[in-house]
Amino acid sequence: MTNPSQSHSPIKFVALYTRVLKMLGSDRKLGWMLAIANVVLAMAMFAEPILFGLVIDTLSRASLDDPAGIWPKLAPLLLTWVGFGLFTISCGAVIALFADRLSHRRRHIVLRDYFEHVLQLPLAQQADTHSGRLMKTMLQGTDALWWLWLSFFRDHLAAAVSLIVLVPVALYINWRLALVLIVLCIVFVGLTHFILRKTQVLQQQVEGHHSDLAEQASDTLGNIALVQSFARIEHEVSALKDISQRVLGAQMPVLSWWALVNVLTRSSTTLSILCIVALGAWLFTKGLTTVGAIVTFISFSGMVIMRLEQIVGFVHRLAMEAPRLQEFFHILDTESSIHDGPHAIDLGRVRGAIAFENVTFAYDKKHPAVKGLSFALKPGATIALVGASGAGKSTALSLLYRAFDPQSGRITVDGHDIRDLQLGALRSNIGVVFQEALLFNRSIADNLKVGMPEATEAQLREACASAQALEFIVQHPQGFDTKIGERGRALSGGERQRLSIARVLLKNPPILILDEATSALDSATETKLLQALDAVTKDRSTLVIAHRLATIRKADTILVMDHGTIVEAGSFDELYAQDGRFTQLVKEQFSDASGQFIS
Ligand SMILES: Nc1ncnc2c1ncn2[C@@H]1O[C@H](COP(=O)(O)OP(=O)(O)OP(=O)(O)O)[C@@H](O)[C@H]1O
Ligand SMILES: [Mg+2]
Repeated sequence: MTNPSQSHSPIKFVALYTRVLKMLGSDRKLGWMLAIANVVLAMAMFAEPILFGLVIDTLSRASLDDPAGIWPKLAPLLLTWVGFGLFTISCGAVIALFADRLSHRRRHIVLRDYFEHVLQLPLAQQADTHSGRLMKTMLQGTDALWWLWLSFFRDHLAAAVSLIVLVPVALYINWRLALVLIVLCIVFVGLTHFILRKTQVLQQQVEGHHSDLAEQASDTLGNIALVQSFARIEHEVSALKDISQRVLGAQMPVLSWWALVNVLTRSSTTLSILCIVALGAWLFTKGLTTVGAIVTFISFSGMVIMRLEQIVGFVHRLAMEAPRLQEFFHILDTESSIHDGPHAIDLGRVRGAIAFENVTFAYDKKHPAVKGLSFALKPGATIALVGASGAGKSTALSLLYRAFDPQSGRITVDGHDIRDLQLGALRSNIGVVFQEALLFNRSIADNLKVGMPEATEAQLREACASAQALEFIVQHPQGFDTKIGERGRALSGGERQRLSIARVLLKNPPILILDEATSALDSATETKLLQALDAVTKDRSTLVIAHRLATIRKADTILVMDHGTIVEAGSFDELYAQDGRFTQLVKEQFSDASGQFIS
């Protein structure tokens, strides 16, 4: 995902607005009904000024000698007025209620869609986007959508319809006076267009800085321990202040421009009213209009001006929200590079025959992290990857569960290219103990049940016992219900590792990936855990990464990796006998290399 805030291509407001309105999905029918009700309501609004004019004319023509004679003429007008009043009030209330419900409901549906979409994007596409930024885009984007739907059905549509109808009606009532209103409309449109052109790029910059702010703040908050231990509080606060400064620096000119629009529109409004009154008085003296027509017209002008101001206010707000929406849609439109093919199949539970065939993968498209990797694993066998830090071990195994797809070569499971398998089905066959125990800020039980939601307490206990985790869990007063904090912060490193092993045992997959699964354990616990793992891995295809070579003593095959390639392969004893890279690693790890530690 490239960061949209860095591109300053002009926002196409109409396209953006149309897209927002098209997102009503299953609520489209209600949307149409609300739209029609809005048009009816907008039409009914005109009745009031017309009735007002008619009342004035009736009064001015009435003879004071016969005051009672006025009422038969006035009564129908007043009753009609009451009728229209009741109709517009109730219609308005119903529209407001349904528009509210519709936009709240849609906001949550779109939020769920965005969330699901982001979760499906492969890690490679996530890498350059911080979770803080994704979160900010989700919340602000859906807020902007909510506001647009709500205001479309409550104000915008009625305002647009009123303007379209008001102007011809005004021309019909008195074309000379109506010309003033038309000039006013042109001034408003011209001004708004001018300001939009002036502020669009700046507003995009503001939004970019806002996203930076969200990213920086969430990054800092996620690393509070680091910030405190390195006494970086002041530094982090000042970094945030810098971004705030940049937000304000870009925001101020935009605010000034819109303040200018406000002043100019207000002045032209006052001027227009003055013109209408003066012109009306002059026309009256010439006998070209009645007092009632002038009053009607001034009411009309009030309505036109109110609608114009509403529309300018809306354009202003849309200009502020547009970059947020653009960012939101940009992420929503990012297509996942890893997805099910049209003929993807589900193999059910696989046997676990795995083959890497000349697999090459690079994160940055230039420097491969894994180069021409080939090896095979029979069902139930164990393969171990060893090698220096950064050799590409974790990367190689992450290709198996399609965290990334290789640029060349292929990986097969039970003879099928993994790209021909359904992603969910493939992943449900693989259990990963990650190098960093990845845990949710939920209870221990919830974390364990990630791979098996229906697990019973007895099953949880059994898995935890195998993973040497039961002892520390039952020590907590709340046992399996203990909340473990963000990323399992409330647990020790070794406890986190044992929990993530228990989680994978519970998932019970035919293929296991253990990436430094026991590195944080003391040797006594590790020995116990390895014994338990022996039983578990016996009938599963297992891929182990370990720095501690003693832990891979029993692997069927050991692959020694260096700079993304396999430099040696064989059993422990074969490799040790070769006196090559592996022997060197063993010797480095055990000062007494006579073999007593390793045999
Ligand atoms: N998400 C990523 N984006 C870009 N480069 C990455 C990414 N993850 C790893 N790398 C790079 O790829 C190379 C291989 O990393 P990898 O994590 O596979 O090494 P490793 O053999 O597992 O090392 P270790 O034993 O330290 O865990 C390293 O040079 C690393 O910097
Ligand atoms: Mg690694």
